[in-house]
Amino acid sequence: MSQTDAKSPELFLRNLWYFALHSQALKQDRLVHKTILGEPIVFGRAPDGEAFALRDLCPHRGVPLSKGQMIDGTVECPYHGWRFKPSGQCAMIPSLVGEEGVEPSKIHVRKYPLAEKNGLIWVYMPEDATAAVQEPVPALPLTASARPTLIEAQKFPCAIDHAVVGLMDPAHGPFVHKAWWWRSAKSIHAKAKKYAPSHLGFTMVTHKPSSNSTLYKLLGGDRTTEISFQLPGIRVEHIKAGRNEVVGLTTCTPLTADETEVTQTFFWNIPWITPFKPIAQHVARVFLGQDRNMVTLQQEGLKFNPRLMLIQDADVPAMWYHRLKKEWAEATATKRPFVNPVTETTLRWRS
Ligand code: FES
Ligand SMILES: [Fe+2]
Repeated sequence: MSQTDAKSPELFLRNLWYFALHSQALKQDRLVHKTILGEPIVFGRAPDGEAFALRDLCPHRGVPLSKGQMIDGTVECPYHGWRFKPSGQCAMIPSLVGEEGVEPSKIHVRKYPLAEKNGLIWVYMPEDATAAVQEPVPALPLTASARPTLIEAQKFPCAIDHAVVGLMDPAHGPFVHKAWWWRSAKSIHAKAKKYAPSHLGFTMVTHKPSSNSTLYKLLGGDRTTEISFQLPGIRVEHIKAGRNEVVGLTTCTPLTADETEVTQTFFWNIPWITPFKPIAQHVARVFLGQDRNMVTLQQEGLKFNPRLMLIQDADVPAMWYHRLKKEWAEATATKRPFVNPVTETTLRWRS
């Protein structure tokens, strides 16, 4: 058993892509505010539909641009009407008479790199505003036309680390997610799962899903599941049963130091599931709510800043997470290549 201070030195990792919002939440001519890593960001769409992200703060007097409006393809600040292009460049200052020597085009609001794919909008959070994008957008096992079929997002009142560790923890299932259609404490049995390092994280290599979960049985066929995790807090579960496929994406986006948005986005190609969507939505809400409730309860104890424990083997994914984080933070700070600290291992636990 190892005792460790289950805290990473760096709370927020930089130079990585974070899930921001779903495409459907960003309508044309609308502005959406979101605080990510403690930074105010405004999301919008250019007239051609291309999404953009700018610092949600007018360089003139600090008013949130998201409270303004889209007008002629620009973001108009609600205070003095300064307009900014999707590139962040100022396009117009209405008060100017032309003799002030003020050149609007020289004024900029910070622009964030953004990527939109499969109905998901990702934002890149660099170390400093001028740094170039160095990481690819997280790769998902989806066809180009795949779009979310189910979405459930909840705000967890905790730092990203507790949200991530809670989600990758294999031992809490029978206690936190008790339900007749899932599993119970009585169904606990020994498991052995093989893990391998993968891009910015690790993968529980293809295996047959838990025989004690009723939900999986419904899918039928010859089922296999692959679960991968990558920094900063992205988990992808890929279930295949013959031609039927379900991809479950879970993203943890730190809004602030003590609030994390956990979003579950599902994609499936199984038409018969669609009529059951309200049930699936309910299940997803209950499930994520159970995790959220536990993390909320955990805050009661964390107020006292206790030393925490991580034990073999059930907490090894959590140990890897902390090691991966530390490695990424060090590699970024010293501008050296990232070396994945995870090695191929079989982990054994009862759940
Ligand atoms: S504060 Fe934005 S235009 Fe003045
Ligand atoms: Fe959970």
